[in-house]
Amino acid sequence: MLSIRNLHAGYGKVKVLHGISIDVPKASVVTLIGSNGAGKTTTMRAISGMIRPSAGEITMGIGANAKRIDALESHRIARLGLAHSPEGRRVFATMSVTDNLLLGAFPRLTSARPRGDVKADLERAIEMFPRLKERRHQLAGTLSGGEQQMLAIARALMSDPQLLLIDELSLGLSPLVVDEILARLVELNRAGLSILLIEQFVHRALDVADRIYVLKKGRVAYSGTPAAAVRIGAVEEAEQASGRRRTELLVREERDGGLARVVVAPRAARGGGPAVPLCASGRQQRGDRRTQRA
Ligand SMILES: Nc1ncnc2c1ncn2[C@@H]1O[C@H](COP(=O)(O)OP(=O)(O)OP(=O)(O)O)[C@@H](O)[C@H]1O
Ligand SMILES: [Mg+2]
Repeated sequence: MLSIRNLHAGYGKVKVLHGISIDVPKASVVTLIGSNGAGKTTTMRAISGMIRPSAGEITMGIGANAKRIDALESHRIARLGLAHSPEGRRVFATMSVTDNLLLGAFPRLTSARPRGDVKADLERAIEMFPRLKERRHQLAGTLSGGEQQMLAIARALMSDPQLLLIDELSLGLSPLVVDEILARLVELNRAGLSILLIEQFVHRALDVADRIYVLKKGRVAYSGTPAAAVRIGAVEEAEQASGRRRTELLVREERDGGLARVVVAPRAARGGGPAVPLCASGRQQRGDRRTQRA
């Protein structure tokens, strides 16, 4: 469904990805794992057209329908069936919950995709998240962090995608809600949806993934089944003094066969920052993420 070959990408002079290759087969769940700053979000941004790769190929679709997408604008990629729930819950703050969801269906309102029953899907999205149902007329910017995350995921599903990218699924959500979302995603996956997931709670990620890729400093350190990764080294989850968990994953590096220790600290440690909508083209405003972090 998605094939990435030798992808190089970054931000101006800052090179982040140094030739990564990733495959997401049709109807599979693939998880990206890596320390903070490893390049996971950058990979997703390159796939969905938010940043332009400096080299490499990204192909979406199967067989005769496969199409190079690395030079396409975000909205064109979306029309091919890709949805992206981005890092930092980028909902449209001054629009209502319902309008955010309807906007998610926009790629279907063009002739490129089957339109399906948008109204029924809106009801389903809202039923999936009862908290959104109660707040359907509320402005998205006034939702709590966790509610905005629910909205971002529900909005991505509204496009009825063939390939779904979710960056930091569990950010700001209670374990119960995460389990509910994962259960729904597994259902959609069984019905054919391909999923690329970034999830900092590694055990959860290993539970649902058919295959994992461990990124280290912009390179693929390991790719394989979760079971193999767990055999190679232990996945250890340790409670930190702050009460947050962090995970250490020991993987055998693809390049030289040495063992690499990857420490994954849950994102919640840094907070989500305010929701900043994308500019109209869908491309991220230069530097806005840096300001958010500051
Ligand atoms: N807009 C930007 N401009 C410049 N550098 C950036 C920008 N966004 C990210 N970076 C840098 O690119 C590198 C990879 O960042 P990325 O967001 O892809 O990491 P990540 O693996 O998603 O990490 P995290 O787990 O913290 O979300 C980091 O060193 C980061 O500082
Ligand atoms: Mg990230």
